[in-house]
Amino acid sequence: MKSYYLTTAIDYANGSPHLGHAYEKILTDVIARANRLHGKSVKFVTGLDEHGQKVQQGAETEGVKPIDRCDRIAEEFQSMLELLEISNDDYIRTTQERHKKVVARLLQDLFDRGEIYQAEYQGFYSTRAEQFLQEKDKVDGEWPEIFGEVTEITEKNYFFKLSKYQDWLVSHLEDNPSFIEPAHRQTQVLEFLKDPLNDLCISRPVERLNWGIPLPFDAEYVTYVWFDALVNYVSAAGYGEDSFDNVWPADLHVIGKDILAPPHAVYWPIMLKASNLALPKQILAHGWWTSSGAKMSKSTGETVDPLSLAEKYGSDAFRYFVMREMTVGNDAEFSLERFESRYRADLGNDLGNLLSRLLHMTATYEEGITPEVCLDEEPEQKIRSLWELTKEETLACFSSYRFNQGLEKTFSFIRGINKYADERKPWKLAKSEEAADRQALQTCLGTMIEALRLASGLLAPVMPSVHAKINERLNLPPCADWGEDLSWDHRLAGKKLGEKTILFPREV
Ligand code: MSP
Repeated sequence: MKSYYLTTAIDYANGSPHLGHAYEKILTDVIARANRLHGKSVKFVTGLDEHGQKVQQGAETEGVKPIDRCDRIAEEFQSMLELLEISNDDYIRTTQERHKKVVARLLQDLFDRGEIYQAEYQGFYSTRAEQFLQEKDKVDGEWPEIFGEVTEITEKNYFFKLSKYQDWLVSHLEDNPSFIEPAHRQTQVLEFLKDPLNDLCISRPVERLNWGIPLPFDAEYVTYVWFDALVNYVSAAGYGEDSFDNVWPADLHVIGKDILAPPHAVYWPIMLKASNLALPKQILAHGWWTSSGAKMSKSTGETVDPLSLAEKYGSDAFRYFVMREMTVGNDAEFSLERFESRYRADLGNDLGNLLSRLLHMTATYEEGITPEVCLDEEPEQKIRSLWELTKEETLACFSSYRFNQGLEKTFSFIRGINKYADERKPWKLAKSEEAADRQALQTCLGTMIEALRLASGLLAPVMPSVHAKINERLNLPPCADWGEDLSWDHRLAGKKLGEKTILFPREV
């Protein structure tokens, strides 16, 4: 069976991880986990982009070998993945042999078939952006600050025939309107493609840059870092091995909006087409986390390091926050106040209190055993139909990457369980000796336990540990299959529940 193959961008090995990197991994992880819960076999890959001028310069400044610096940065990124409970199946590094081999093979093949040619380049070059520039890149006659020092150069280089495929790419986008999500990003790419494409310079002379993959047909050059980095998606899929067809094409590339056009939406599809490889099915471009309106990065100098929140409040609280706050595709402003308010209100008051209150009442009134539900009156019917709607809507939101809306619906159902309790008032029923009140009490607790089990199931991809903790108290393993575990069937009746616990302590 072909796997559902999804990837994140591979992070640059020129700095430490920050919220932007963390968010992308969490978003992709949630999609991966949701697909596993839908019964798919998933391959989820992330990794590190290690070549290029910035990495070489960073190592020179530190006085270390580039590979030693990359090893250290790889460890930092991998500890972030661990901290955030990212369930990636593989971690690809562009300095690994398995990757270098694939880059060389694809380059040689393109060269042999005349898709890559040598030509003299005369023009401007920005070392900071590792990019050739054109007059049109100037703003008011000046090179913008982002390019740093721009020098005029003449050199021989190798070029990939990008322009030849421009019309094909436009037709592909027109024929596949959801190739890029959200839709407005696809429109932007089509807009970008209204200007003629230049062929892409895919080489850098060794005397200027030696930290790269040598061109297999000319040892005087290394490969341009984007050509190298994009290939990671097929090297991690096992290009050249028998198992490749079980993985490729990718079902989803998750990336940030800054690297959509041209790298992922133009270079990558054309590189694949020219190599006779199938295209990924979809690219999801998320927005940026900003701080005072500017893109967040390690150097923004935030007063609070957002990643430290995951250490302090637990990874699931952090995962919930980023998924609840960000509309996938738009930017979101990071704020500690919003984080704390979500932690206290949604997680502490709505979810955490529900669990501890329910375990406490079941222990006090029913010796910790989930009672049978014997009544089916209006309050029960209302909460049950709210569940059916919540399940349908949440799953639809998750499938279309509207996680913030899906979570909003799930939490509104959780508040609905609390409201149901306020209506039935089990604490009052427990004081009565009447048989009818006893039945109502048992029905109320049984219904609440069932509703909490189901809500916990929907939260599984976003808060895997909290989900597992709730289920452990309910005497259940973590949910493995949404097809089976999201139906209202009172499967916990007669089961002993665990001790009361506090999921989200007020003081951390
Ligand atoms: N190495 C390239 C990607 C190569 S993929 C073949 C790169 N690396 S990066 O480290 O700069 O960025 C990695 C990912 O993090 C990108 O998708 C980028 O958009 C994302 N983010 C970096 N800062 C971000 C925010 N402030 N907010 C959200 N995501 C952003 O680009």
